[in-house]
Amino acid sequence: MDFVSDSLGCEHMTTILTFGTFDVLHVGHLRILERAASLGDRLAVGISSDALNFAKKGRLPVFPQNERMRLVSALRCVDSVFLEESLAQKRDYLLQHAADVLAMGDDWRGRFDEYSDICRVVYFERTPSVSTTEIIEKIRL
Ligand code: CTP
Repeated sequence: MDFVSDSLGCEHMTTILTFGTFDVLHVGHLRILERAASLGDRLAVGISSDALNFAKKGRLPVFPQNERMRLVSALRCVDSVFLEESLAQKRDYLLQHAADVLAMGDDWRGRFDEYSDICRVVYFERTPSVSTTEIIEKIRL
């Protein structure tokens, strides 16, 4: 258990937040979720919506958002999932979940430092040689 004291000196459970598409679930996803969970007591995962992915990448994920949410929430290291509908709401999501830590892969290094005024921001090394994009390309060949 990893407790932190609030402004009144009371201890509370630490909440970790992470975000991602988690499409075509693979071992790189599992490893970042396990490492994020190891930083505290509860891991909440923001799963980016189909619409958000379409806006970012110009294509829909292979698995729709409700299925991606079900798969990620079934992992032992994950306590809860929620839908991330807009990148602009990241600060709101962190505050709503009272996040103590924001954990992301290091492909995002530096991009979330602006939230270090409300939580600790941690970047984990990406797992080499695996990505959703590569898996989709391999299957297409
Ligand atoms: N991630 C990781 N190691 C990998 C792939 C992803 O640590 N090999 C992490 C990312 O850094 C991110 C989270 O998993 O914090 C969700 O990443 P996501 O973009 O959903 O997965 P990718 O496989 O990177 O997908 P894509 O190829 O579509 O970018």
